[in-house]
Amino acid sequence: MDKMKSICLIGFMGSGKTTLGKALADELSVNFFDTDEEIVKWRNMDIPGIFESEGEKNFREYESEVFKRLPVNDAVIATGGGIIESRNNREWLKQHLMTVYLKTSFKEIQRRLSFEQNRPLWNQEMNEKKRLYESRQRLYEECANQIIHTDEKTIEELLRSVQNSINFSKQG
Ligand code: S3P
Repeated sequence: MDKMKSICLIGFMGSGKTTLGKALADELSVNFFDTDEEIVKWRNMDIPGIFESEGEKNFREYESEVFKRLPVNDAVIATGGGIIESRNNREWLKQHLMTVYLKTSFKEIQRRLSFEQNRPLWNQEMNEKKRLYESRQRLYEECANQIIHTDEKTIEELLRSVQNSINFSKQG
């Protein structure tokens, strides 16, 4: 069978990358990877622990390193919301992966993460979170082969949208 470029899901915290990624990998019968999970396994520490004891800068280095080790073919990859902060990661997304941006409104993210405890960057003042969200939009868009809006969509609808875009890109 022909090789497929790995599908990489990007988007802000709470946009559904992990949930959709797992379902998509199942549907396509390929392996699923999650950069956060890979970091936790490698460093043997949870994400808040890494932020607290080593700081965001080290976290970003671990994130870039695990990201580049993941397969560029025949897999689905869910990334942490900040993967696009690094120029080098953005180039990797554009060159090697089929990148799908799960675009979610700030209001919807607030709703989904209202009880969130495990994401250090969500645990700050509202205007800081909003600023982070806004500053990242153009970076997600810059890397995306496909943009899918997730507000008010079921997982089945999102699955269908991603599959349509894969089929379309195969024809192109
Ligand atoms: C982060 C998002 C998180 C995780 C870390 C930092 C970010 O992943 O990588 O807390 O910078 O947006 P999710 O997008 O899966 O929540």
